[in-house]
Amino acid sequence: MSGVSDPNRQNMSEFVQVNRKVFYAAADRNKDVILEQLKPILDKSRLVLEVGSGSGQHIYRFSKDYPNVVFQPTEYDSNLLTSIDAYADELNKEGYHINPALELDATNSEHWERVQKVGLQSQDQQHQQKQVNSAATPTIHGVYDLLITTNVFHISPWIVGQSIVRGAGKVLRNGGRLAIYGPFKKDGKFNTESNRQFDETLRGRNPSWGVRDIEEIEAVAKNEADLKLDRIIDMPSNNYMLLFSKVAN
Ligand SMILES: C[S@@+](CC[C@H](N)C(=O)[O-])C[C@H]1O[C@@H](n2cnc3c(N)ncnc32)[C@H](O)[C@@H]1O
Repeated sequence: MSGVSDPNRQNMSEFVQVNRKVFYAAADRNKDVILEQLKPILDKSRLVLEVGSGSGQHIYRFSKDYPNVVFQPTEYDSNLLTSIDAYADELNKEGYHINPALELDATNSEHWERVQKVGLQSQDQQHQQKQVNSAATPTIHGVYDLLITTNVFHISPWIVGQSIVRGAGKVLRNGGRLAIYGPFKKDGKFNTESNRQFDETLRGRNPSWGVRDIEEIEAVAKNEADLKLDRIIDMPSNNYMLLFSKVAN
C-alpha cells in the first residue's frame, strides 16, 4: 500500500504493534465512516463474515455497536490472526460475540467450506440447537447475513477479488449482503488523478495489484454469484462502498 498524494491511503508502514494487537492508522481513520454505511444492514444481521480482517480493528469497532451479532473474522496473513483475536478477546470478555479468526485465502475452496461450516455452527448456537457434526459436508445454502471486505481488491491479484465475490455467492443466505469498500474505477476511468497515481504505484510494487473496475466486479457478481449491485456509495478520500444483495437461485 502506498500513500501517494492521499493521506488517507493505507500504508503498511503506518502501523504499530502493542503486545498482540496491530494498529493500522488507516483502519482507525475509516472505521466509523464504514460502520455508518453498514448500520442499516447490521441492524438486521445476526451473523457477519469479514474477509481480510487485517489487524482486527474493523471487526472490533463494528462489534462494539452490535453486541448481539456474531462476527466471523478471517485473514490471509496467518501472522495477523493473533492480533484479530486479541481485539476480539477484549470484547468477548464483556459478553460480545467475535469468533476466533480463521485463515482464509479467498482462492482456496476448502477455506470457504470451513468458513461455511463454522457459520452453520454459529447459527446453530444462536438457535440453541445441537451442533453440526464436524464431519458433515457443508450445506450449499448460505448462512451469513453480511460479508464485509475493506481495502482488499486493489492490494491483491484480481483472482482474489473474483474469488471473494464467488465465495460470497456461496456463503451468503438469500437476501444476504456483500459490502466491498475501497478505491475503484467506474467504466474503466479513475475518479481522481490521485487514484490514477495510486494505481500506478500499486502496480509498480506488484504487477498483479491495482485499482479494479466496478463494472468488472459487477459482471462476476451477476454471472457467477447471483449477486445484484444495489448501490455505489461515495465515501471519503475518493473511495466507494459497493453494496450487493444475494438473489434467490
Ligand atoms: C490493506 S490490507 C486490508 C486489511 C483490512 N481489511 C483493513 O482495511 O485494514 C489487505 C488485505 O488483503 C487481504 N488479502 C490479500 N490476499 C488475499 C487472499 N488471497 N485471500 C484473502 N484475502 C487476501 C489480506 O488479508 C490483507 O489483510
